[in-house]
Amino acid sequence: MTDTPLLLAIDEGTTSTRVVAFDLSGCIVATEGAPITQHYPQPGWVEHDAAEIWTKTEACLTAVAQRVGVGRIAAIGLTNQRETVVFWDRHSGEPLAPAIVWQDRRSADLCAELREEGLEPDVQAKTGLLLDPYFSGTKIAWAIENWPAVARAAKAGSLAIGTIDSYLLFRLTGGKVHVTDATNAARTLLMDLATCEWDEGMIERLGVPRAALPEIVDCAGALGEVELLGRRVPIAGCAGDQQAAAIGQGCLTPGLVKATYGTGAFVLAQAGDKPPVSANRLLSTVAWRLDGQAAYALEGSIFVAGSAIQWLRDRLNIIEDAAETEGLARSVPDNGGVHFVPAFAGLGAPHWRADARGLLTGLTGGTTRAHIVRACLEAMSQQTADLFDALASDGVAPARLRVDGGMVANDWVCQDLADMLAMTVERPKVIETTALGAAMLAGVGVGLFDDLAAAQAMWQADRIFTPALDGKTRRERRAGWKKAVERVLL
Ligand code: G3P
Repeated sequence: MTDTPLLLAIDEGTTSTRVVAFDLSGCIVATEGAPITQHYPQPGWVEHDAAEIWTKTEACLTAVAQRVGVGRIAAIGLTNQRETVVFWDRHSGEPLAPAIVWQDRRSADLCAELREEGLEPDVQAKTGLLLDPYFSGTKIAWAIENWPAVARAAKAGSLAIGTIDSYLLFRLTGGKVHVTDATNAARTLLMDLATCEWDEGMIERLGVPRAALPEIVDCAGALGEVELLGRRVPIAGCAGDQQAAAIGQGCLTPGLVKATYGTGAFVLAQAGDKPPVSANRLLSTVAWRLDGQAAYALEGSIFVAGSAIQWLRDRLNIIEDAAETEGLARSVPDNGGVHFVPAFAGLGAPHWRADARGLLTGLTGGTTRAHIVRACLEAMSQQTADLFDALASDGVAPARLRVDGGMVANDWVCQDLADMLAMTVERPKVIETTALGAAMLAGVGVGLFDDLAAAQAMWQADRIFTPALDGKTRRERRAGWKKAVERVLL
């Protein structure tokens, strides 16, 4: 059969943009991707060129549509790196300034100032977030203050602001819609979590030009249409990448938890239809919004995961390929006392220390690159275990963890996670779960599936990893890691 319907996912991540075509059983039929250039104009600053993101995304979309035949595409779902914020001209669609990426720390001083004013408890109650430069709101405040072109456009009424979803939806629809979905809006520091509407108090406090903000919409439905190879194709799903991954992993009922290991690593625990409150510095966020009804999640955000492997490859040059890390980790019996805290962009949950920097500790004359690589991989399970400790203190005690993202192709990483969490770890066949979740939302949006539960027909299991480490070794490893983190936090 050549004419069965397909669902396309656009997955615009931090380091690459990809388009994936799925059939309705969740198998990947075609895929196309392109790397996104990272700009580091100053220490702690990270920028993208939104025009490059658009051009490459459009090219990937066209390539996949040509390959599978545009007539087979039932709908498109969009998912994206969250918090990264774009400033563009609402008439031309052209960016007016660099996009400020989620990892960027330039608004750390403003966050500190707001914390000193005692605003954090209020901000957390309203938005579910904390005062960290990670979120878009203080990045927008910085841009208005420091980039004259952005401030001028705000005054002239020609400024449009939005996260990557919003910008891509604007470009895909030829400038017809300026919207953002509720999961992305939930990451801006500007949205009231309970109502899923812009919060006027936050907007005013941060000096954000209200008229430049997009409208907040559902994650599935008629979001817009794209003209693709002479046909109009509906864009019917949209969610931030971590929420899309949670959907793609079937975390649909309270207590189900997923962890995605991409550029960063993000743990989301489904929390039901009321915003959860964390007493342990986890985030409260929108999991999805359908038919005006929001579902919520608790989130732990780790800023550095796959980017640490990239660093080993591109900056330290001690590996040639990410795939080498598995064999190297297995080649030594343990980490040889080496711990690596990859706080390149500060530390996220549960520490939230924008000023933290990375640390490699326990080096001896006998340390080899295998020990360093192993310590780097171990940092993934240790950071995840820190988040699970915080989740447990918030009363969430999952029975198992579903994992996805590029890093979990590494069996050693999955086993180490099972060992450090003392928990069953499940890996799906399609580890591009982020794209899968976006495709599922698109399928719901055009009525191919009745709801997200029905869309789970697209999820297929691959392998289960069961804990095999004795309690004493686990406790010792946890203690060694915690000591290293304490030194970073000094
Ligand atoms: O919050 C940032 C997150 O959305 C980035 O995801 O996949 O690029 O690590 P990723």
